[in-house]
This record gives sequence, structure tokens and C-alpha cells, in this order.
Amino acid sequence: MHANQHKNVGPTGRFLRILSISAMLTALVAFVELQPDDRNADWLAYGGNKAGNRYSPLTQINPGNVSQLKVAWEYDAAKLPAGIAAPRRPMEIQCQPIIVNGILYGTTPHLSLFALKADTGEELWRFDPFTGGTPRFHANRGVMFWEDGGDKRILYTAGNHLCAVDAATGKLVQGFGDAGKVDLSEGVTGRPGRENDKLSVDATSPGVIYKDILVIGSRVSEYGDAAPGHIRAFDIRTGKLKWTFHTVPEPGEPGHDTWPENAWKRIGGANNWAGMVLDEKRGAVYFGTGSPSVDFYGADREGKNLYANCVISLNAETGKMNWYYQTVHHDLWDRDISCQPNLLTVTHKGSNGKPRKIDAVAQATKDGLLFLLDRDTGKPLFPVKERPALTDYHLPGEQPWPTQPFPTKPAPFSRQNFTESEITDRTPEAHAFVKEKFSQTRSGNKYMPPSKEGSLYLGIGGGAEWGGNAADPEGILYQNANEMVWDLKMMDYNGRGGTKQAAASPGQAVYMRNCAACHRADRQGSGQEYPSLVQVGNRMPKDEIANIIKSGRGRMPSFQHISDQERYELVAFLTNPEAKAPVSENHSASEAPTEAKSAFPYIPPYINNGWTRFFDPDGYPAIKPPWGTLNAIDLNTGEYLWRVPLGEFPELAKKGVPITGTENYGGPIVTAGGLVFIAGTKDEKIRAFDRKTGKTVWEYQLPAGGFATPATYMVNGKQYVVIAAGGAKNGHKPGGKYIAFALP
Ligand code: HEC
Repeated sequence: MHANQHKNVGPTGRFLRILSISAMLTALVAFVELQPDDRNADWLAYGGNKAGNRYSPLTQINPGNVSQLKVAWEYDAAKLPAGIAAPRRPMEIQCQPIIVNGILYGTTPHLSLFALKADTGEELWRFDPFTGGTPRFHANRGVMFWEDGGDKRILYTAGNHLCAVDAATGKLVQGFGDAGKVDLSEGVTGRPGRENDKLSVDATSPGVIYKDILVIGSRVSEYGDAAPGHIRAFDIRTGKLKWTFHTVPEPGEPGHDTWPENAWKRIGGANNWAGMVLDEKRGAVYFGTGSPSVDFYGADREGKNLYANCVISLNAETGKMNWYYQTVHHDLWDRDISCQPNLLTVTHKGSNGKPRKIDAVAQATKDGLLFLLDRDTGKPLFPVKERPALTDYHLPGEQPWPTQPFPTKPAPFSRQNFTESEITDRTPEAHAFVKEKFSQTRSGNKYMPPSKEGSLYLGIGGGAEWGGNAADPEGILYQNANEMVWDLKMMDYNGRGGTKQAAASPGQAVYMRNCAACHRADRQGSGQEYPSLVQVGNRMPKDEIANIIKSGRGRMPSFQHISDQERYELVAFLTNPEAKAPVSENHSASEAPTEAKSAFPYIPPYINNGWTRFFDPDGYPAIKPPWGTLNAIDLNTGEYLWRVPLGEFPELAKKGVPITGTENYGGPIVTAGGLVFIAGTKDEKIRAFDRKTGKTVWEYQLPAGGFATPATYMVNGKQYVVIAAGGAKNGHKPGGKYIAFALP
């Protein structure tokens, strides 16, 4: 049709007509989805809905008016419960709250649960899980809601407990578990012959609820003491365990033959720590698993290691596996599946060449890949190639897997390798510094086996991070990503590798086995994330150090399995590292303790020396920008619609450097109103992007970093966007607030 046939319409009129038709359609969709009460819309689950697609049908806030957003209320979540001492380092908030019947439920930096009127921020109640016990502070990304008639419950995890709290009163539900709590380590840490191991099990992401069943994963240690990453289902009424799925299969279970015969007794991990989603109609849960323990050394777990690094579909009622799809074979790089999958519907060509709608599950990974799988079969919807992987220069005994899967579409959303042409050119000095290290370190291939010489990688952190992604009903996926170089070096400390460093004291031996992977062998720590323990005795009393070891804190797991004697020796070492105490028989450093002698299930001969980001001398990433991006990927075609840098360094922008993007933590949400909201950046802003174009249409300077995923909802005809501005992550200033925005 020729344009001038619309004689009396003209370009503007035509535009308006299209606009009004699409507005009508949007309003209609919104109306249908918001029935029966179109003045109220909830955000019912972590990820917005059980499909985890972080999508809202709300349209009140749109690209035309988003610039008028104002703070509607703020809620101070940082105040401590009575009797609980503030941790020395402030805690962050990663929680995306839920909103049910106009009430907002979320968690504080100290893991209290609270209920607010979602339109005013007025507190209804607050529940402290640690009253009368020892607090255990760690990230909590969200909570779950269940109701049956008048019985309404919030379920969430704090420390090693799953708590059921009455949604109306904020009191523990007495009929659930042990007076309202279920111990998450029950049935996980006891393996034949090791029933008394007190391994660390908690959960940083919520599970999903199907009928009266709560399905949940866990966070466990990543080292020799890792608990197995069982997936478990609990009866919501009673707290009783309903079923367990072993992600490290036991004898007789399928997949057992992808490990050495007895590996299941000592290898843990393969846990789902990033959350799961539910297809209610199919009665199926979908989730990704992490790498097996230990992170960077696999000679004692030779094989493909199913079901580590897999996308898995289970029958929610029974725990029986529907299918699995492995994204990394025999992982040597900690390439956990680091976010919830996303259930969405796409249109692809069928075998008869005609377009057909397919229910799919999209899984993004730490190393920037996106797997789009058929929800019923787990088969890739875009071809995936098994490509040869590097197998040379590995640690003694290691047998790297010779191939790894690579999706042909969509293209990776973050760079795969650090090559010479990617070395920062921000300044000549920065370039020279990075190039020097680059030339001395292995680089350029994401599947280099870890080595004592050290290697540079992307994709040890996300890529995709725990904030996940958002998808709209058209099959467009919105994905934020990080591009950071990691410097990984293995150490040999307990003898099996031949060139071990002997420990000078029993405390140092305990330190090397348990602590050096994060705090480094020299106790210097790494960046803002892993604090230095040099002279820690001057900063805190021995009791406090002992408590942190016992209970864990933030990203540090608890070490309850370290015996009192070992903890005593460890604290002695940390507070007086030079003392050369005689090596006692049971804790000889020159001889790896046997399983019988030690509570440790498994002691690897090599361990990583810290988690180290590679920065230039001024503290910027060693790689050329972008350092953080937001991407819109059309999963009908596998093509990118747009890709923009996410976040900026104001001091670089002032010098005229184009927007670099920054490392970012916390995911996006997308609305029918045409917006993608996301915070998470180092510049501590929350932004709205036009979902069609990727253009920034609103930004707001938060009082502290919003390292969490926002949520949106409507109460009494007004749409709100809420974000936790917790700050405190990686050295950022603390915030501890939830902030809600609305149109005036
Ligand atoms: C998985 C990584 C990891 C491991 C393993 C680990 N830590 Fe930590 N540790 C951390 C992180 C992260 C923090 C900062 C926690 C916070 O306050 O947010 C920390 C904090 C601490 C602190 C408090 C320091 C301060 O200045 O506030 C002490 C003490 C400590 N760790 C001791 C240990 C000891 C002893 C071990 C071995 C038994 C150990 N850690 C193992 C990650 C780890």
C-alpha cells in the first residue's frame, strides 16, 4: 500500500492512530490480565510470577511519563533487631520483594522479614529469625507466599533454616517443622559414614511453590567441605520433607556413571543456588545447577559430572526428572548456572516450514551464553555445537573434557575470551601494565584448565548474574551482563601435587584448607569483596573471629564442621601468624588428613589462591569497555534488537570517555507500558530504558547502590516501582533502604 493513499490521515495522524490502536490493545491485555480488579496488581513471586519472567502487564508508567516519577515512600530496613550486634562490615540487600493483596514482603540486611502497606511503606510487622540464637548474615534474594483460605504464610530462609511466618501477624507458624522452622541441613549432610558432618547448607534464593509443595535448592560451600546440592520439596503445611532429587547421583541412579564410583560420598555442590521457576500447567520445576566441588580442580571427579552445570526439569509433585541439559561438561571454572531460568513462548519455524508457537525455557549463563530449550523435551531450539576444548597444560591428574557446548544463536551477550586486542587502552600506562601481566599469563581461551602458572578468564563471575533476566510476551529477553577479567591461580599446599608448601603450624594448615581460596594464602584478601585477614586480631576479639568461622557471613559460608580444637588453632594462627606451634598429630600439615581422622569429606591437593578481578593500576577493569551492558534479544529469531552500556563512571564521562558500563548486580524487569527498569550499577542509579529502542528515558540517583532487582505493582489505581537500595556491596556505602516510586 502506498503511503499517500491515506489522504486525510498524514504521517502524524497515522502515527496517532497506530498509537491509539496499540494503546487500546495494551489496555485490553492489561485489563484481561488484571481481572477482576484492574486497580490492583500484585508481584506475586520472586521473578514477578512463577515463570520468573519479571514481566508486568501494567501500563500506567510509560516512556512518555516516566520522567515524572517521584519517590512515593522510603522504608528503613537497616535498623537492627533488639539484642543483635551490628556486623563490622555492613550487609547488602539483594531482595526483590513480593507484593500480595497490596502488602509488600521483603527482608532486611540482617535477614529480618517485614510486611509493609505497599502504597505508603507503613510497617505492619517485622520478624527476626535469630531472636535467642546466633545470627547468620547472608544474602537473601526473596521470599515466597502461600495461602489456603485464611491461612496465609510467608516462607523464607535465614541461616540454615526455612521459616514459615504467618503473613497476617509476623509470627512463626507453630505447626510447621520445629515450631515454625525446618533445618535445611537435615538429610543433606549425613552421608553413609559421615552422618555427623556439620556442613554448611543455607539458601540465598527462594524456591517455588506448587500446590502445597515448596521446592527449593541451596547454597553450599564450594570447597572440600561442600555439602551435596540436593533439590528438596517440603510439605508447606507440616514442613515435612516430601522428596529429594540428588544432583550428584547415588549408586543405581541415572548419571551415577558420569563420576568415579565413590565420588558421591565426598563431592558436593552441583547445587541450585540461583532460584527456580515453575510451569504450573505442566506441574514442572525448572532450574540450573552449579559446578561440583571443588571449583577449580576435577582430577578426583573425572567424568562429565551430571547433573552439575545443568538446566533440569523435574516433576514438582514427585521429584522425578523430566529432562536435563548440561551447559558445561566437567566444569573446572566455577561456571555455575548463575540465575533463574525464564519460561517464555517463542515462534519458530516448524518442520513443515510454518511458524509455530513453542513453550521454551531460556537459561543464561555466567560465561555469557544463552540456551533456549524446548520446555517439554529440553532440546535446543537453536542448534548447539559441541566444540573442541583445550585439554593441555592441566594440573597433574586432571582430565579436562574434550568438547563443550556452544549455542549457534543467539550470539554470546558477553565476550568469551581476553585477547591482546581487548587489553584496555584507557591510558598508555594502564595498557602497558595490563599487557605486561597478559604476556606472562595464559589467556585467550575460556576452556584453559586452571594451572599453577595462572590464567586470565572471563566468565568466572557473570556474564549473567543472580539478578537474571526479563522476558515479555513477544519473546524478547532483556539481559544485563558483566565483562570482567579474572586472574585465577592454583596453589599446591598439602602434598599430593609434589611441590607443597608445608604449613608452619596446625592453624595455618586449617587456614590453607578452608580459608585461602577466598582470603588468599598470604591472608591479604582480594578487592573489597574478600577482606584481608592480616592483623585481624587488632580489629576484632578472638571470640568474634571464632563466631564468624562458625556462622559464616555474607558470601562466606559457615564452617561448623571445623572442630573446636581446629578453630582454636586457626584463631591462634590468625591472631599470631608467626608463632610456630608444634604440629599436633591430628592436624599434621605435611600429611593430608585421612577421611577417618578428619571431619573433612575431601581435601583437594590444589586450591585457588583467591578470587581476583584483574584491574588496571587505577582500579578500572583490565579489558576494554563495555564493562556492563543491557541487551534485548529476540528469541524468535535469535537476533539482538539492541545492546547498550549499563552504568557509568562519572569521572570518566567528565573526561569525555564514552559510557563504559559498569559491573552490575541485580536484574531487570519489563512492563507492558514499554519500559525496562534496572539498577545494579556502580554509579548507584536506577534507570528506565525504552524497551523498543534501549534508550535511557529516566534515571534516578539512589542514596546507595541498588544491588537488587526491582518490582512493580499497582495499589488503588496507582503503579509503583520499588527497589532495595542496600548499598554495602564490594565496598559501596551502606544504604539499607527500600524506595518506591510513582507518578505524582
Ligand atoms: C567463599 C569465600 C570465603 C571463605 C572460604 C572464607 N571466607 Fe572469610 N570472608 C569471606 C567474605 C566474603 C567475608 C566478608 C563478609 C562480610 O562481612 O560481608 C569474610 C569475612 C571474614 C572475616 C571478618 C573480617 C572482617 O574484617 O570483617 C573473618 C575473620 C574471616 N572471614 C575468616 C575466615 C576464616 C578463618 C576462614 C576459613 C575457615 C574463612 N574466612 C573462609 C569469604 C570467605
